[in-house]
Amino acid sequence: MRVAMIGAGYVGLVSGACFADFGHVVTCIDKDAGKIARLKQGDMPIFEPGLDQLVAANVREGRLAFTTEAAEAVGAADAVFIAVGTPSRRGDGHADLSYVHAAAAEVANLVQGFTVVVTKSTVPVGTGDEIEAIIRKVRADADVAVVSNPEFLREGAAIADFKRPDRVVVGTEDERARAVMRELYRPLFLNETPVLFTARRTSELIKYAANAFLAMKITFINEIADLCDAVGADVQQVSRGIGMDGRIGSKFLNAGPGYGGSCFPKDTLALVRTAVDAGSPVRLIETTVAVNDARKLAMAQKVAKAMGGDIAGKTIALLGLTFKPNTDDMRDAPSLAIAPGLQAMGAHIQAFDPEGHEAKGLLPGVTFKANAYEATRGADAVVIITEWDQFRALDLDRLKAVMRAPRVIDLRNIYNPADMKARGFHYTSVGRPD
Ligand SMILES: NC(=O)c1ccc[n+]([C@@H]2O[C@H](COP(=O)([O-])OP(=O)(O)OC[C@H]3O[C@@H](n4cnc5c(N)ncnc54)[C@H](O)[C@@H]3O)[C@@H](O)[C@H]2O)c1
Repeated sequence: MRVAMIGAGYVGLVSGACFADFGHVVTCIDKDAGKIARLKQGDMPIFEPGLDQLVAANVREGRLAFTTEAAEAVGAADAVFIAVGTPSRRGDGHADLSYVHAAAAEVANLVQGFTVVVTKSTVPVGTGDEIEAIIRKVRADADVAVVSNPEFLREGAAIADFKRPDRVVVGTEDERARAVMRELYRPLFLNETPVLFTARRTSELIKYAANAFLAMKITFINEIADLCDAVGADVQQVSRGIGMDGRIGSKFLNAGPGYGGSCFPKDTLALVRTAVDAGSPVRLIETTVAVNDARKLAMAQKVAKAMGGDIAGKTIALLGLTFKPNTDDMRDAPSLAIAPGLQAMGAHIQAFDPEGHEAKGLLPGVTFKANAYEATRGADAVVIITEWDQFRALDLDRLKAVMRAPRVIDLRNIYNPADMKARGFHYTSVGRPD
């Protein structure tokens, strides 16, 4: 199959490279000329484990190419994927569909012969109808089927998730389109990956319902963690105790500083708006959004409290700034609320993240350091915000030696409270007795 992938970001680039690895011929198209120039030189514009080798191998085999010009690739394509961003619209929280609409209009002019136009971007219910209307308006005679195929990959494990997904969801009732989608995902059929064919609107909603449920699960355990703090219980054991129940499941039950990232915050908000517009509000998700927003802001207070209250003039080290480990993605990361919150209380911030280079432009006044020990040098406390593997095995004696005071605030519960105490640290975590 010939595939044109519009948008070479976290989703488009990974999906494009994986489809090429399945044996299809893929062209990734992006408006960002700098991104395309880097990709052509084999230089990855994002950090995603394994992506550079996967891209290099498929470029070498002639199955993967990059361009800023959509015409040729879209004209030749059996399937055109739209994988552009759908950020929150400023002001109202609806998904901003301007990139999706623009891509649809461009595609309309370029398709030749029967073409499946696939929405991979996360889009509100009814967007498939809008894309179809845009294409028909631009080219009444275009022979297209518009399909919803939401993506469930996680940054940091994106390639494995794409190649071995829990399921693939395809929303279309067009038999020709279903045949093309089956062929595209054929290697997964051989692996017996469940492929769920639904109507288009149902598929669009599945993606939002999945993200909203996961965001709610995280928020649930975060609230239980606060309750644990209040009553002297241990949230990690509560998680284990409830997670062993197959109806609940053990994943996504780690208490922390609140969810962030490029998907959950904007997708929960967009679902809330869709539901209000449809006259069928989703109160649980409205509350999830409010509780999580408040939690991210409250984390700076938690740090201050652990340090005795007054942090004016204190130096605080932050370890991990990206919204989760193994990605360079800073979108809606909890660190973006925590660092300014601490600065507002008069603290000086020194920070280190292995890949979150973009933080330098997002966190004014923060001093960036080259590693964990440089960041903690002279600090009155260290806050672990993102659980990169390298922070799980810090040399604690070295840490204690470089810090002004041995105080660790572990917002990811990666250390053991009793061990830390025995090693001479003042240790605070989330939902566990100190
Ligand atoms: N990042 C994730 O983990 C993830 C997971 C599942 C789903 N999604 C969804 O996938 C979509 C894309 O997310 P992302 O994180 O890859 O975004 P991104 O911002 O990393 O990438 C989007 C890319 O599209 C390009 N673009 C925009 N308009 C274009 C056009 N008309 N022609 C060509 N290129 C264009 C941009 O330059 C950018 O490089 C979003 O809807 C998101 O919700 C993301």
